[in-house]
Amino acid sequence: MPTRVEKKDVQAMFSDIAPTYDLLNRILSFGVDRLWRKRAVASLLGDFKGEARFLDLATGTADVALEVHRQAGSGARIVGVDFAYPMLARGKTKAERQGAPLSLIQGDGLSLPFQDGAFDGVIIAFGLRNFEDREAGLAEMGRVLKEGGRLVVLEFGHPRGLFGLLYAFYFRALLPVVGRLVSAHRSAYNYLPNTVYEFPEAERLSAMMRDAGFREVSHRPMTGGIAELHTGVRE
Ligand SMILES: C[S@@+](CC[C@H](N)C(=O)[O-])C[C@H]1O[C@@H](n2cnc3c(N)ncnc32)[C@H](O)[C@@H]1O
Repeated sequence: MPTRVEKKDVQAMFSDIAPTYDLLNRILSFGVDRLWRKRAVASLLGDFKGEARFLDLATGTADVALEVHRQAGSGARIVGVDFAYPMLARGKTKAERQGAPLSLIQGDGLSLPFQDGAFDGVIIAFGLRNFEDREAGLAEMGRVLKEGGRLVVLEFGHPRGLFGLLYAFYFRALLPVVGRLVSAHRSAYNYLPNTVYEFPEAERLSAMMRDAGFREVSHRPMTGGIAELHTGVRE
């Protein structure tokens, strides 16, 4: 599969791998993905208190939205949007089981069904990489955020040095094999490292966020740079 893939193919791919998506996240990250999401949500919430509306864009099986519910409590209204319905369906089941009142909506991140300034905070975890047009995606997140609202982007990073080499071996050679065996999908777990290596470096993404109308933009690496947590405030 080429690195940049058409929208409908990305949608079909995530729909296909939905049944094993959570399991593979835990296996392939040795469980660390949970910690990354927890930190990302903590960074989204900051000192938000009381009533607030949050959007988890590219919510997938809703792990981030559920974490927002856990950390923010009952004052938060949480909406998750994804264009792959089978991913959302798993999220809905999890939310029901956990008694979390999430609104999970099928929609496209490039054309969100919300008014300008509808949210106090927007978070996107491992989703922006998959967007056909990332600049347009960031602009759309800015549109639905209130002035002063916070954006958090959690994505894979580019580890350096010896650790980077070891990681590259794991990510490019081992991960696709395990991913293929467990998901039975031919190409999804080759697509993953391909898109990660092609995704902009952290500084470049910061520049893209500034261009999209965010200030106080910063990023910090997690787990030796395997993941990168980007934050910004809507101007
Ligand atoms: C790697 S998953 C991440 C899911 C979830 N955020 C998580 O942390 O596990 C990427 C998700 O982005 C969704 N996605 C990709 N492009 C999208 C778009 N343009 N609009 C809505 N969802 C999109 C896919 O359907 C998929 O569920």
